[in-house]
Amino acid sequence: MNKNMNKLNKLLYNITEITSKSAIACHSCIGLGDERGADQAAVESMRASLNNLEISGRVVIGEGERDDAPMLYIGELLGKSGVDIDIAVDPLEGTTICAHNKPDSISVLAISEASNMLNAPDVYMEKIAIGKNLPQDLVDLDEPIEKNLKSLATAKKCLVQDLNVCLLNRPRHVELIKVLRAQGVRIKLIDDGDVLACLKTCLEGGDIDMYLGIGGAPEGVLAAAGLKCLGGQMQGRLIFNTQEEIARANSIGIIDLSKKYNIHEMVKGEAMLSATWVTDGFFKGVKKMENNCYTTETLLLAPNIIRIIKTAYI
Ligand code: FBP
Repeated sequence: MNKNMNKLNKLLYNITEITSKSAIACHSCIGLGDERGADQAAVESMRASLNNLEISGRVVIGEGERDDAPMLYIGELLGKSGVDIDIAVDPLEGTTICAHNKPDSISVLAISEASNMLNAPDVYMEKIAIGKNLPQDLVDLDEPIEKNLKSLATAKKCLVQDLNVCLLNRPRHVELIKVLRAQGVRIKLIDDGDVLACLKTCLEGGDIDMYLGIGGAPEGVLAAAGLKCLGGQMQGRLIFNTQEEIARANSIGIIDLSKKYNIHEMVKGEAMLSATWVTDGFFKGVKKMENNCYTTETLLLAPNIIRIIKTAYI
């Protein structure tokens, strides 16, 4: 392990504190129908916490481009100076989920050594993710879905019809759903939150064998960071719908617009990820106790580390 990675390890518990605090910051917004307010609370908390750390951090996945995002914008430098790191944030993943008090909104943060995470613009990404202990390169974005399902079922020693495939419930997935229906797989349609859906391919009780379809590119890189710790596999390809999106990508050094990224290209080297539940779901959301105390549940992932951390802030 190199010296910088050692320093990164020292930040392990700092990142759980940071996502716990930003999740707590969202607590008063749960169920109020105010997506923007909930996001703002999480962003402010996360930015203040990151600025308090002895890091020289650069936001590679953030709230958007500098002109659109006053805080945690892509390229923003954070911290009091120290270890050089890349920072990927989604202070509130599932703003609508939180605003409507539905399951599984999370506050999530990933870090890696500097220049190791893909600087993905705020566009869409086509994704495929599968779990751990499977042959390398078992599935491929460029292969027909039928073939990917067959390969996964064979590796898992089950029938294609036994597979649980998850995707976002969006009109853009109508054709994909038709193909999946024809194969007879079980489809789990989610309203939001594909970072967690990807991670669930590797989590005990996650009940997702494959995550498929088009979601946010920033969420794709965050998912890749977590899956890397968990031993999962993922590929992603950026999708550009306008000339303006292409120009933005070019401006941050993305020239090959149709490149298929594997997990090691999205996140080079090692990474760490912390996700704290805001609303109840796979883990318990933030709870307010007597005397303004809070409890949180956090999933902490790092190389060879999977921890579920329950914390009481008294
Ligand atoms: P927000 O937290 O920004 O609301 O994102 C939620 C989410 O569902 C992501 O998990 C997903 O990648 C993305 O939105 C999909 O985008 P869209 O809602 O435009 O289909």
